[in-house]
Amino acid sequence: MKAVVFHGVGHIVVDEVDDPKIEAASDAIIKITTSSICGTDLHMLRGTMTGMRYGTVLGHEAVGIVEKVGPGVEKFKVGDRVVVCSTIACGECAYCEAKEFASCDRANPNGPDAGTAFFGGPAATGPFNGLQAERARIPFADSVLVKLPKDVSDADGLLCSDIFPTGFMGAEMADVKEGDQVAVFGCGPVGQMAIASALYLGAKQVFAIDVVSDRLKVAKEQGAIAINFEKVDPVEQLKKLTNGYGPDAVIDAVGIDAQRPLKGPATSIVGVVETVIEKTAGAPFAVLTGNHWQKGDGPEQVLQWCIESVRKSGVVSILGVYPETEENFPIGKAMAKSLTIRAANCSHRKYIPKCLDMMEKTPFRPSTILTVFDGLENAVECYKHFDKREPGWLKVELTPEEI
Ligand SMILES: NC(=O)c1ccc[n+]([C@@H]2O[C@H](COP(=O)([O-])OP(=O)(O)OC[C@H]3O[C@@H](n4cnc5c(N)ncnc54)[C@H](O)[C@@H]3O)[C@@H](O)[C@H]2O)c1
Ligand SMILES: [Zn+2]
Ligand SMILES: [Zn+2]
Repeated sequence: MKAVVFHGVGHIVVDEVDDPKIEAASDAIIKITTSSICGTDLHMLRGTMTGMRYGTVLGHEAVGIVEKVGPGVEKFKVGDRVVVCSTIACGECAYCEAKEFASCDRANPNGPDAGTAFFGGPAATGPFNGLQAERARIPFADSVLVKLPKDVSDADGLLCSDIFPTGFMGAEMADVKEGDQVAVFGCGPVGQMAIASALYLGAKQVFAIDVVSDRLKVAKEQGAIAINFEKVDPVEQLKKLTNGYGPDAVIDAVGIDAQRPLKGPATSIVGVVETVIEKTAGAPFAVLTGNHWQKGDGPEQVLQWCIESVRKSGVVSILGVYPETEENFPIGKAMAKSLTIRAANCSHRKYIPKCLDMMEKTPFRPSTILTVFDGLENAVECYKHFDKREPGWLKVELTPEEI
């Protein structure tokens, strides 16, 4: 079958690989009808999320049809239309019982303390082959698959695989309440879902911070107040818009590949010097030259802005991915402001029902952010455009040729 395969930092190929097989009683094989590219895939290609194994199939977002089930699968049968949870969880351990699926004790073959297991990630997350492929093996299928209601389209289901539940979790972790003011850093796909979810949970105002005008425009269309961090200082602007207090909660939907402003009032000499150091000395496996897969030059920029802008006793909700090697966090400033800080990999299985419920109760459809529809065979080109955050490349849906 065809799949997007990781060959090294800055190097992926659409290749022929072996079809997946049932390996354990609880496995299912699905035929993938649609998949997509996520900002998390970019961290791996840029080398800011390290430890990827040569030959791993990428991707962790998909909708498909069950094609085979192992003898231990009870909830699914051949022909069922399903969305795949990006994170893999056994469904039975104490953490899964508590709906903390991202902390599952049994799913990660590296052991209970190895962290979240997910599709198409580094060796430390499994590794499990991913979903940018024609077929995939789904471990613990009863827990990792969710049946899609008939009236939910494949495209809406696809965004329930990862980014919609992640955005929803971000708003929930931010304790968003009726009348709150919330800032969302990053207007990529995850940021857009966090904006929609914060408004749904009752936020009076949502401020959306980014530098890409095309993405700020989408945020504005959702009802957010757009802030371009190269036109104004985002921390000052957020204070100004909240009577000097700062927002009640801030959500980091950017992560390790954050950029510093290259112009405007938020630039600083220290920032420029740090950018040079970061570009040349930072992640040892990052691609330092060339046009693509450039890592961000301000890995802690968003965390700093979050801590500086949120009001005292406010909440910081971190969705953006940081690798285990990242150790710099402005804990002193957070302490001085009595902040609540939450960070998590999404427990998709817990949040997908909340997303389906939100779609049932409101006209919101996550698929409105899908801007590019292409074949799986063109995935490498699509990755390049998405990596550069080109206008019109907010979220890519990839469809295998066989469908
Ligand atoms: N916690 C989870 O379970 C989970 C799940 C999915 C994705 N993620 C993570 O969420 C993050 C966002 O994913 P995405 O698909 O939207 O990625 P993306 O790369 O498409 O979007 C990131 C956005 O952040 C903007 N940005 C860069 N520097 C910034 C700054 N200093 N201030 C404000 N905005 C800035 C970029 O311009 C871009 O629009 C990634 O880190 C991804 O790995 C986490
Ligand atoms: Zn994702
Ligand atoms: Zn478990």
